[in-house]
Amino acid sequence: MLSEEVRGLVRDVRLGFAATVSPDGMPNLSPKGTTLALDDRRLVFADIRSPATVANLRANPAIEVNVVDVGTRRGYRFAGTGRVVEAGDEYDGLLAWYREQGFELEGRADRFVVVEVERVSQLLSPAYDWGSSEEELLRTYTRHYATVWAEQLGGASWPPEIYELHYLADGDPVHGSGHSGDLATWEIGRRPLAEAIDRPGAFLDVGCANGLLLESLVRWSAHPLDPYGVDFAPRLVAEARRRLPDYADRFFVADALEWDPPRRFDFVRTELVYAPVERRRVLVERLLGWLEPGGRLLVCGYGGDEVVAPLEEWGFEPELVREWRGGRSGRRVQLAVVPAAAARSTRTRHTRGTHR
Ligand SMILES: Cc1cc2nc3c(=O)[nH]c(=O)nc-3n(C[C@H](O)[C@H](O)[C@H](O)COP(=O)(O)O)c2cc1C
Ligand SMILES: C[S@@+](CC[C@H](N)C(=O)[O-])C[C@H]1O[C@@H](n2cnc3c(N)ncnc32)[C@H](O)[C@@H]1O
Repeated sequence: MLSEEVRGLVRDVRLGFAATVSPDGMPNLSPKGTTLALDDRRLVFADIRSPATVANLRANPAIEVNVVDVGTRRGYRFAGTGRVVEAGDEYDGLLAWYREQGFELEGRADRFVVVEVERVSQLLSPAYDWGSSEEELLRTYTRHYATVWAEQLGGASWPPEIYELHYLADGDPVHGSGHSGDLATWEIGRRPLAEAIDRPGAFLDVGCANGLLLESLVRWSAHPLDPYGVDFAPRLVAEARRRLPDYADRFFVADALEWDPPRRFDFVRTELVYAPVERRRVLVERLLGWLEPGGRLLVCGYGGDEVVAPLEEWGFEPELVREWRGGRSGRRVQLAVVPAAAARSTRTRHTRGTHR
């Protein structure tokens, strides 16, 4: 009855909503993150903190469970009877089984509820009736939840998975570089960076995403460039290598705050938001250390982010500052260029404790 596909969806979603009937005939609905398919006819969840569900089942075993994938907008509703499993051999067996599934429930689950499924029916969002495909819905909701969860995590520094979800949601190369507009607004937002390239040389894009900036700068720059990229999101680096196979061995997966690059560069580009606030000055110092003599660090602030003021506050002296309106929203872009030579004197001053 519970096909491999059904069991797989339940396993992936990891959240079932269980409805039982209260003695007064009222519905009782609550989420169970431990919901799994035990075999091809039974579901199971752990009673960790489910007093009403358990009490209801003891009086009336009727239960319905809904499991829905919020990305594909598909799921299943299961109807059947729930049996409460108390301490004993069956309980121990379920505890061991859950451990095999990666759940540590020892000392946490007071009992288990095993649901004998009598009916399964598919749940499909009405969006399918209106012609949406599963892939379209998945892309829409990947983008939606990536945005919501990124905001909940705070704009300061996102984990690589959030960048991947967000950038790879729709297969658009401009979006794959983190820009929310189209190719035209991309060019308005990024082309002025090429003005900072004052000689031929090796250019490292820190946070290279799918490599679109490197690819663009090679075209826009008045001087020949050897492009290199580093990004801590493996799927974005894979995308950069796929899109730009000639440079595949020049893309690296690493966190800029930890990486030790295999060479020095004439140009290094970054944003400050790639580090938590308290490590941003350290990020700048690290990147200055990756420059060839006479090289330039390009510090960008997209979407209105301020970079000049913090750099000056930390004692750096940008020798080229540019500001323009870019992106789909027309928000300000800031570029501050810190030269390698100034970096050395700045760091000397830092070590004397002149600056924070
Ligand atoms: C995302 C989520 C997952 C949860 N998973 C479980 C679970 O697996 N087992 C459990 O006993 N309680 C779980 N809870 C807590 C119960 O849903 C919560 O204590 C609820 O009030 C229990 O209601 P009940 O007594 O009607 O079952 C979860 C809560 C949330 C928000
Ligand atoms: C807005 S995109 C930049 C794309 C392109 N380089 C540009 O300037 O338009 C930011 C990228 O930085 C990466 N990133 C963020 N923090 C990082 C870190 N600490 N180390 C390496 N990459 C990081 C993200 O994965 C994301 O791909």
